[in-house]
Amino acid sequence: MKKVILVYSGGLDTSVCIPMMREEYGFDHVITVTVDVGQPAADIRQAEEKARALGTEHYTVDAKEEFVRDYIFPAIRANGDYMGYPISTSIARPLIGLKAVEVAKKVGGDAFCHGCTGKGNDQFRIEFVMRALCPEMAIVAPMREKNLTRSEEIEYAKVKGVPISQTVAKIWSIDENLWGRSIEGGRLEEPDFVPPEEIFLWTKGIDAAPDTPRRLTIDFEEGVPVALDGERMNGLALIQALNTIAGENGVGRIDIMEDRMLGLKVRENYECPAAVTLLTAHRALEALVLTRPELDLKAIIDRKWSELAYQGLWFDPLKEDLEAFIAATQKRVSGTVLLDLFKGQAKVVGRRSPWALYSEDLATFDSKTFDQREALGMVKNHGFQSRMYLQLKAKLG
Ligand code: ARG
Repeated sequence: MKKVILVYSGGLDTSVCIPMMREEYGFDHVITVTVDVGQPAADIRQAEEKARALGTEHYTVDAKEEFVRDYIFPAIRANGDYMGYPISTSIARPLIGLKAVEVAKKVGGDAFCHGCTGKGNDQFRIEFVMRALCPEMAIVAPMREKNLTRSEEIEYAKVKGVPISQTVAKIWSIDENLWGRSIEGGRLEEPDFVPPEEIFLWTKGIDAAPDTPRRLTIDFEEGVPVALDGERMNGLALIQALNTIAGENGVGRIDIMEDRMLGLKVRENYECPAAVTLLTAHRALEALVLTRPELDLKAIIDRKWSELAYQGLWFDPLKEDLEAFIAATQKRVSGTVLLDLFKGQAKVVGRRSPWALYSEDLATFDSKTFDQREALGMVKNHGFQSRMYLQLKAKLG
């Protein structure tokens, strides 16, 4: 009996995989695994219903808490960002792969199957985890192997009696988890097509957002958020609450051209209200407590971390090395940030921390603690080499 473990979202691609596994790949037994990383509950129910209708052995794994603790929190500490948006799909993929591996270890299987196409990034991320943790199992990717178009898939689904909710008219391709919602496809593929309001579900447009700012405080401990408006809550509840509050004020809409791993530029729209708010607040707190050279180096480290995460190299040794540095810096990233959420903006309006590297007494114009006369020596020597260069240039050409 040949068994395949299918990473199953309930969408068109992965649903089409079910009859394909049986009829074209020769698996007698299809096991579907749906991992809950905060996508709409209705999507998960739908996946379960379709799995039942198509007669698979189905597992739904609630991984939301784990996603927050082991994936989103590290992304906050590393200011996880790729080309100007908080990375979200990329940090969920390794966890989805991991949960598929866990099911495989429990119930057994000969191969994994996923619905990634050959164009995208997800094939790299998911397969890396599967190969790293379960090298003995084969991996099949029918969408990639058969090079099917969407219309061909829909046709195949109809012939095989696969229930499809997507019609050809429903053109947006959406990926959603707790940390963000990304929307692409359809006319959004024209880079100058202005995104219609209908693609956004988590955020209000500028016009519809309230006319007065929503003042908010966020408390951090060692680089992770622990309280909202002074009320302590777990990470999951905090992110969910903040997605609502910041979304209401239109925070977190991002429209970019994204360079994908295979070299394609893809136009992507994001809405990620909690992520934008928390990263803005986290950076503001770091600016208060870390030294200037630490901030300089951390910007480089964060960028490297984000690249590795984007590429799905979740167990790379460099990632562990970078995380060691990040962990050392985050010990002091505790304190409170005040923000105003207003018409699409999350604006920092205050910050405090017991670790603040800031002395009001030194910085104020009204203090004698800093003897200004002592600055003269430094000012005189400032740019010494540059001045010398200028003289030499005048003389030697
Ligand atoms: N920017 C995404 C990535 O990290 C794209 C994810 C897929 N998005 C989608 N709307 N289907 O690769």
